[in-house]
Amino acid sequence: AETPVAKTPPMGWNSWNYFAEKVTDADVRAAADAMVSSGMRDAGYIYVNIDDGWQGERDAKGVIHSNARFPDMKALADYVHAKGLKLGIYSSPGPKTCAGYTGSLGHEKQDAQTYAAWGVDYLKYDLCSYLDVMKAKAPNDPEAQMRLMESAYETMRDALDTTHRPIVYSLCQYGMDAVWEWASDPRVGGNLWRTTGDISADWDRIYALASQQAGLAAYSRPGHWNDPDMLEVGNGQLTAAENRSHFSWWAMLAAPLLAGNDLSHMSPAVRDILTRRDVIAVDQDALGKQATRAYADGETEVWTRPLQGGALAVAVFNVGGTRYAGTHPFHLDLAKLGLRGTQQGEDLWTGKAVTLQDHQPIALHTHDVWLVRIAVPKR
Ligand code: DGJ
Repeated sequence: AETPVAKTPPMGWNSWNYFAEKVTDADVRAAADAMVSSGMRDAGYIYVNIDDGWQGERDAKGVIHSNARFPDMKALADYVHAKGLKLGIYSSPGPKTCAGYTGSLGHEKQDAQTYAAWGVDYLKYDLCSYLDVMKAKAPNDPEAQMRLMESAYETMRDALDTTHRPIVYSLCQYGMDAVWEWASDPRVGGNLWRTTGDISADWDRIYALASQQAGLAAYSRPGHWNDPDMLEVGNGQLTAAENRSHFSWWAMLAAPLLAGNDLSHMSPAVRDILTRRDVIAVDQDALGKQATRAYADGETEVWTRPLQGGALAVAVFNVGGTRYAGTHPFHLDLAKLGLRGTQQGEDLWTGKAVTLQDHQPIALHTHDVWLVRIAVPKR
């Protein structure tokens, strides 16, 4: 049975994209501190999620312990909770995690109890070495392997239920087995599920993941979200335009907004993107409907997302590999969005009012976005 969590896509931070498996208790506390001081908490970010690398060994009774980088998980959870935030943790249904740490196989109930006793509010469950278990148990039978995978996620669902603690359940198996078709079934009760392989701080990868979400809108709804992976905003060499587009796209997709950068050392420009209220409001819209691709035209893509109260978000992305000297002129075809006549909207990155005429030219730098909210669309 599902728990009443994640009515809107989860927002927070996760350690993996920046710190990877060397993350420490101090890094997590610093992230929680920065989430408050940067204004992110007040903008809606709440989960502070530890990814792979916290696990130590099991004791004689089979109880999992954290490793030396995490001296006291309960104290860490208390620290995070005292700031009005929630703590997330990570495990695998296999014997090992992807980075080779201890997984939950055969100890699911025990681990769920341990997490609940620490005060954990969110679990990311990463397939990893369970792939080998599947292959060993059902050699040359891909269908049986997929059933084993589903039942591994059911086992942890049951274990989480026995704790009676509301814990967000995040499935991570890279989109295999059309996960969106079964992850939200009550027997699994997934609150979010990865639809793809891993993201990286690279425009081509971000664009590839975003494109893969076309066609998945029907599977996402309050409590249950497609997850195109965590944010790379502020990581690597992404340009300001790329950070803006990435964040806009994830907001349009009703994706979890889990920052993946070093929050303690981010630039004001990156902070401003992550805390842009009007864009976050698109992601968190109560209707919970994911954007669909209205049309693509050359190196430009136009996506629309219905919002509560009949409003419409329109995002135009210049996804091209061509680097124009100036800006790429694009003419918006309102009929392809189901709109007729002049529209009044608001540019969600500048806050300015905009008037949209049919075939109006829109100037977009390489990899930049134009994101507009139309309060009362004329159809
Ligand atoms: C694979 C997942 O897709 C990543 O997000 C991350 O959790 C790593 N495993 C950790 O090993």
